[in-house]
Amino acid sequence: MRALLSGGMVITPSSRVRADILIDGERIAGMLESGAKVDVDQRYEIDGMLVFPGFIDPHVHSRDPGAPEKEDFAHCTKAAAAGGVTTILDMPNSMPAVVDAESFEERARQHEDVAHVDFGLWGLSTGAENLGELPTLFKAGAVAVKVFWGYYLDRSTRALVYEPGGIHADALIPPPDVGELLEVCRTVARLGGVLAAHCEESSILRAAARDLGRDVETYDDLLATRPVAAEAACIALGAELARATGCRFHVVHMASGRGVELVRQAQQKSIPLTAETCPHYLTLTAADHAALGTTMKVFPPIRDEEDRESLWRGVADGTITSIGSDHAPHTLEEKHSSLANAPAGVVGVETLVPLMLDAASSGRVGMERLAWILSEGTARLYGIYPRKGALRLGADADITVVDPAATWTISGDRLHSKQRFTPWDGQTVRGRAVLAFLRGALVMQDGEPVGQPRGKLVRRANPQVEET
Ligand code: NCD
Ligand code: ZN
Repeated sequence: MRALLSGGMVITPSSRVRADILIDGERIAGMLESGAKVDVDQRYEIDGMLVFPGFIDPHVHSRDPGAPEKEDFAHCTKAAAAGGVTTILDMPNSMPAVVDAESFEERARQHEDVAHVDFGLWGLSTGAENLGELPTLFKAGAVAVKVFWGYYLDRSTRALVYEPGGIHADALIPPPDVGELLEVCRTVARLGGVLAAHCEESSILRAAARDLGRDVETYDDLLATRPVAAEAACIALGAELARATGCRFHVVHMASGRGVELVRQAQQKSIPLTAETCPHYLTLTAADHAALGTTMKVFPPIRDEEDRESLWRGVADGTITSIGSDHAPHTLEEKHSSLANAPAGVVGVETLVPLMLDAASSGRVGMERLAWILSEGTARLYGIYPRKGALRLGADADITVVDPAATWTISGDRLHSKQRFTPWDGQTVRGRAVLAFLRGALVMQDGEPVGQPRGKLVRRANPQVEET
């Protein structure tokens, strides 16, 4: 089957050109001069539209298996497609967690039955405990390994424990200490992989909670118990570990201006440290809590206007290389608990692209930069480039077509995730993904997923692992 996308403006990180894209089967078969005559089975006239390499959401907690009441893989990949995302990278903290090659392959098989978009899998590092499994995880094709620096894990399920207070120590795996992380970094560096970290240092969190001396009641209390220093300390240590070992260290969901400064300084010294942020840190501030309540409770917490501005500067100057949604659904019932007890996490895979397109429409970020942070840069970081993240001959025909002029209103009711509430409910945005192709097949039209599940696992290409 051959198809032609004709009349669109093709956006790459370094250019925008009017070109027609020829798709043959699952691959891109050519970039043709606009208006070129070719024989195809199907033609999409997309004058006035922008054409991006399929967008990638590198930070999705599908909850599958383990917490089907919160989310499952079918729903979150439908939501991804609806929002214009053609590949998601699934976080390892489902139950059971992805901690070795066996659980990796098992997860891949489960997901392939129901996936509406392609997906990569993260591996979980539990510190010294599964250090020996990291080579097999990378060999299997894990896109990166994640350490939840600051979280205790439930010893029997490896689930994250949001609030460890009151739980017996024997039932918990404590967060890895810095020495363990040094070993993890050494191993990941040797394997040529990426180590990513949730950065909130747990002893600082504990001290801050002691300082507050009572339960969290207000959003200011929440900020006081999860101070900027907790994130900054992890990033500073991460930079040292990366410097000492050569490990590619990636800070996920960075939330503070101080974090941006530290990452920038490390990069100026050529330390292999990069960072991701999320739409909620770029579009919301603590002041929104009055209207949004626990819907916007997330770890690390959403902070002040100054942090938001610094994060945008980090996006603009390249300090931040990737943007993920940190789609971390919980049920409405769970979220309706008190600020102290509600679990942390925002529903976001479907709103990632709309919010970033809206930011581009208002001039906050260039469309070309979006092609990098939502596609090519992310694909390169996680070792799936140029199969993904590239509109070039032979690449997977993953393509997101955007109508830059469409103005529409985000509505929780219309989300495709299991959880149909969002901090951006009722917000009008400009720019919309109107078509998405996955390996040549149409998977979304006008914001609705189409077709049967056909998503497949994409494995990280790992030269170092293959050599050993
Ligand atoms: C995430 C979750 O619920 O899985 N929650 C969150 O607030 N970001 C875990 C995490 O990434 O910290
Ligand atoms: Zn996290």
